[in-house]
Amino acid sequence: MTMTTPLTPVLTAHWDEPDSYTLDGYQRHGGYTSLSQAFALGPGPVIDLIKESGLRGRGGAGFPTGMKWSFVPQGDGKPHYLVVNGDESEPGACKDIPLMLANPHALIEGMIIASFAIRANHAFVYIRGEVPHVIRRMRAAVKQAHDAGYLGRDILGSGFDLDIVVTCGAGAYICGEETALLSSLEGFRGHPRLKPPFPAVAGLYSCPTVVNNVETISSVPYIVRNGASWYNFFGTVKSPGIKLFAVSGHVNNPGIFEAPLGITMRELLDYAGGIRDGHELKFWLPGGSSVPVLTPEHLDVPMTYEDMVAAGTMLGTATAMVFDETVSVVRAIAGWLAFYKHESCGKCTPCREGTWWMHQLAQDFVAGKATEEDLTKLEDICSNILGRSFCALGDAAATPYPGALKYFRGEFEQGTHTPAAGLFDEQASIVFEEVRAK
Ligand SMILES: Cc1cc2nc3c(=O)[nH]c(=O)nc-3n(C[C@H](O)[C@H](O)[C@H](O)COP(=O)(O)O)c2cc1C
Ligand code: SF4
Repeated sequence: MTMTTPLTPVLTAHWDEPDSYTLDGYQRHGGYTSLSQAFALGPGPVIDLIKESGLRGRGGAGFPTGMKWSFVPQGDGKPHYLVVNGDESEPGACKDIPLMLANPHALIEGMIIASFAIRANHAFVYIRGEVPHVIRRMRAAVKQAHDAGYLGRDILGSGFDLDIVVTCGAGAYICGEETALLSSLEGFRGHPRLKPPFPAVAGLYSCPTVVNNVETISSVPYIVRNGASWYNFFGTVKSPGIKLFAVSGHVNNPGIFEAPLGITMRELLDYAGGIRDGHELKFWLPGGSSVPVLTPEHLDVPMTYEDMVAAGTMLGTATAMVFDETVSVVRAIAGWLAFYKHESCGKCTPCREGTWWMHQLAQDFVAGKATEEDLTKLEDICSNILGRSFCALGDAAATPYPGALKYFRGEFEQGTHTPAAGLFDEQASIVFEEVRAK
């Protein structure tokens, strides 16, 4: 008998209630009660609690959250800042935007606790500019929290002050990269900065800053309320806890499923109603477009940070994209390359030039006009981007291709004489450019 990992709704527990996003809706289920617990503990013990819970950053890299908070120097006399990354602009990523829409107060409560722990009195939420409804909702929630005495001066008589500013980007994927985000927040062009120094030491306005993902910070109140051992009971030793898994693409019931880390894609596909009727799975990516592709063979690999790496890919944001047999891998790669080419900020040569070359070559494969040499050229360009770019956007652009070549080399070889099946990429690119121009 096979066991199915049960879903564990925490962040998503009340999304089906019409007022889940309101202060009343949040408080009805214990919202804001962890604040007094955190204030009673004190900043250092709150950091220890988050460390003990094993919470890892949900923005893609999986860096341990408590450890990141502990890097902020204490008693340095400088202002400290908390910045929440709600840019969520990667193809396939769709968890933070719905989370802010349905449960904005969990994020605010998490921000109060995190700011208290790192001794910050100013915090920011940076949201991508294309979602004005989410920006409005977050701003309304901040006002409600302020009016209720959870923000502002001397919160709940603790002596702790915090103001939250909800700000928005202008549609650049690079502004999700934490240092580019900080530049953008300061009013400069969203270009990444050299690391080190890391933001924990010199971040916003050169002051110690913690940048965390929306889901990471939203998880904090539930950990404080229920305890570290409640949280790390779920998942594995290296990937403890609960995570939002999104499944999009050719499934019957795409959506967000909250489950312990370690659930498999086979189980998630079941929750998502299976591959659309009459079709079969061809390939999938576990977390956005910046991770290598997997095949049906990998459906039973546990969705953890460590198991995904062992399978040759990455968990990323755990927002899986699923493709059936009607999709040409070459065409999908060409589509993502159009995105990376457009989003490259141009600061460093390998990515600025490489993404254009890769996209051009990928289009030749789609059109059936590539040569045998182009296969090696594409591999060569990838290896010149990977590890040589200034920031991880360049790496992300070069990442899906080697995996695709490993499992679907035949499709690339076919691109030396026959056009790929489906909508021609030029048409897709034209539509993409037209939409961007508006
Ligand atoms: C090009 C690029 C885009 C990124 N976009 C996001 C994003 O939209 N949201 C996010 O949380 N992290 C994003 N990241 C990762 C951030 O740089 C950073 O690691 C993350 O916000 C840290 O939060 P965490 O520790 O809670 O995961 C991006 C990274 C790169 C290189
Ligand atoms: S890797 Fe790309 S996005 Fe990152 S700094 Fe270089 S050009 Fe800009």
